[in-house]
Amino acid sequence: MSLQLTNLKVSIPAKEIISGVTLTINPGTVHAIMGPNGSGKSTLANALMGHPKYQITAGTVKLDGTDITYLSPDKKAAAGLFLSPQHPPEIAGVSVGSFLRLAVGKARGKPLNPLEFQTELLAALQELQIERSFASRPLNAGFSGGEKKRLEVLQLVLLRPRYAILDETDSGLDVDALKVVAAGINRFRSPQTGILLITHYNRILEYVEPDAVHIMKSGKISLTGGKELAQEIERRGYAAD
Ligand SMILES: Nc1ncnc2c1ncn2[C@@H]1O[C@H](COP(=O)(O)OP(=O)(O)OP(=O)(O)O)[C@@H](O)[C@H]1O
Ligand SMILES: [Mg+2]
Repeated sequence: MSLQLTNLKVSIPAKEIISGVTLTINPGTVHAIMGPNGSGKSTLANALMGHPKYQITAGTVKLDGTDITYLSPDKKAAAGLFLSPQHPPEIAGVSVGSFLRLAVGKARGKPLNPLEFQTELLAALQELQIERSFASRPLNAGFSGGEKKRLEVLQLVLLRPRYAILDETDSGLDVDALKVVAAGINRFRSPQTGILLITHYNRILEYVEPDAVHIMKSGKISLTGGKELAQEIERRGYAAD
């Protein structure tokens, strides 16, 4: 049981971005990835979820023993993988509430009773300190950066995937929102769920304590350590690692 990346290589047309990443995320653990801008963190995240712009050219991704390397994003989601993208897309014409009801129904393998789901949704909105009116707004359209990130964590909490990849879900949050988002991630955290948390800042890791911190440089994991590695990076930058 794990999300297991073995010697993964990812290219965009004519250029290799990820050059052999091997990483095992066991249920119950949080792995953080830090690294300079442009080092390939989002490319790894997007390729893992099956984004068509990113081609996996070598290696494998196994989810609890099943090879999911080349599955489509919806099949990867059905297998239990979740991505909170660095830049969540805006979808005009689809309300937050109806999107979530469909997505959660699909994840749970049965249509949801609208009234029961409404109660569950309102409780989750309250927990993440998102106004109720957001449920009827078009998905992410006109949302502030921080509002989009809170909505990602709302999805995480409701969908309850096996493994979650969170790409800078802490970026752009004010101090209070960061605590709310961290609490949501910690609520999702369990012995059955694994998290890959991409971040630039040690601050989120003070709330969501990582089991391992990896540094990505030029498409490779150049260094792995414990949570103290994130503190050191914050103090000294990447040049010294
Ligand atoms: N669709 C794309 N087309 C062209 N180049 C791309 C594309 N996606 C990624 N790249 C390039 O791949 C490299 C890695 O980008 P990526 O977004 O993965 O970096 P990152 O580590 O997530 O950076 P940041 O910390 O700024 O989010 C960059 O040089 C980027 O310009
Ligand atoms: Mg990125």
